[in-house]
Amino acid sequence: MAAEDLIVGLDIGTTKVCVVIGQYGESGQLEIVGVGTTPSRGLRRGVVINIETTVRSIANAVEAAEMMSGREVHSVYTGIAGGHIEGINSRGVVAVTGKGREISREDVDRVIDAAKAIVIPMDREVLHVIPQEFIVDAQGGIKNPIGMVGVRLEAEVHIITGAVSSAQNIVKCVNRAGFKVNDIALEPLASSKAVLSQDEKELGVLLIDLGGGTTDVLVHLEGAPYHTEVLSVGGDQVTNDLSIMLKTPLETAEKIKKEAGCCYAALVQEQEEVRVPGVGGRPPRSVRRAELCEIIQPRMAEILGMVREQIQRKGYLGLLGGGVVLTGGGSLLAGASELAAEIFNLPARVGYPARLGGLVEEYYNPVFATGVGLVLYGAAKRETGYVDTSSSENTFSSVWDRMRNWFKEFF
Ligand SMILES: Nc1ncnc2c1ncn2[C@@H]1O[C@H](COP(=O)(O)OP(=O)(O)OP(=O)(O)O)[C@@H](O)[C@H]1O
Ligand SMILES: [Mg+2]
Repeated sequence: MAAEDLIVGLDIGTTKVCVVIGQYGESGQLEIVGVGTTPSRGLRRGVVINIETTVRSIANAVEAAEMMSGREVHSVYTGIAGGHIEGINSRGVVAVTGKGREISREDVDRVIDAAKAIVIPMDREVLHVIPQEFIVDAQGGIKNPIGMVGVRLEAEVHIITGAVSSAQNIVKCVNRAGFKVNDIALEPLASSKAVLSQDEKELGVLLIDLGGGTTDVLVHLEGAPYHTEVLSVGGDQVTNDLSIMLKTPLETAEKIKKEAGCCYAALVQEQEEVRVPGVGGRPPRSVRRAELCEIIQPRMAEILGMVREQIQRKGYLGLLGGGVVLTGGGSLLAGASELAAEIFNLPARVGYPARLGGLVEEYYNPVFATGVGLVLYGAAKRETGYVDTSSSENTFSSVWDRMRNWFKEFF
């Protein structure tokens, strides 16, 4: 089978780099045939700060996924996150010019261009332009206006921008590791493809991807994104707190957090105890699990509280009929969904990637939400006929050029 049959997601996270290889099976169904993960050491708060170590992590993760799948990777869909990401809502208006005032693809292109015509600083680039709704002669709520008759066409869109240099560094790392970048997608947008149902997106849902270095927030209303934010805080802070309070190295603190940590006191029995290895020749000691919770819960509550404050300020809190979905490694912390339910006063669940075909099971874990989502993102683009013919030399420009292909991307 040719390499073009593969769709590879490469999630370059702050704590791990993961590769998910998707392939169309004989029945035409998308299957996951390989995953590979390596620790990531070249990022800080979601942004590449060390090219060399990141290149090495990418190469190792791809190699592991290649070994599992027995396939060779040439190109990838990768993600972007970090505090530099911004999402804004914009609106464009045009007059319908075609014969019989029937709305054509060109009218839709023009109205999206009009909505996109916002001033963005030189050091930022548009990553995504996602139509929320079209309005034809004051009739709103239209998802696809082509073929309708009208005089005035309006579009409401969500525009996501990011720092040019951050995107360039990601492309550079991937290219140096020997792979071509087909496209870069916002990480929580990819995660939402993997873990959210269409119903949730229609009802209004808050996705929180709790990573190691960042907490990514994405609000979907009526099927489209309305609010994007990347907070530069994450699970690493929780580990840090534990390390300081328990006077134990970060690695031990991380292990204790994963094995015994909890961020919701009501789930912990008063008498439960956890063994903490001693450092510097000191003997191991016991710590009450409730004590761990006293360290972890305030930090998690602070992070989720920051998200809540933003969502409330923007007026979205009352519109989330689909509740809250947590994903990313931090969502595996015991008590995460219980704490979120309390803080947002909404139903909350942990989002696992949707089951795809294939025999590989490892991807069925919130840690792989972005990686699997990138495969789904790539698949959606391929199925709608978008073909990237660029070579690695001009990958970067092709990534931005594809903005013209927004239409194929979202219908
Ligand atoms: N079982 C677990 N219990 C508690 N926390 C966990 C568990 N597994 C992973 N984590 C935490 O999740 C975080 C890593 O999550 P994830 O792999 O989604 O981050 P990342 O994608 O590498 O980082 P980012 O998205 O911030 O760049 C770490 O802080 C880790 O401690
Ligand atoms: Mg992540």
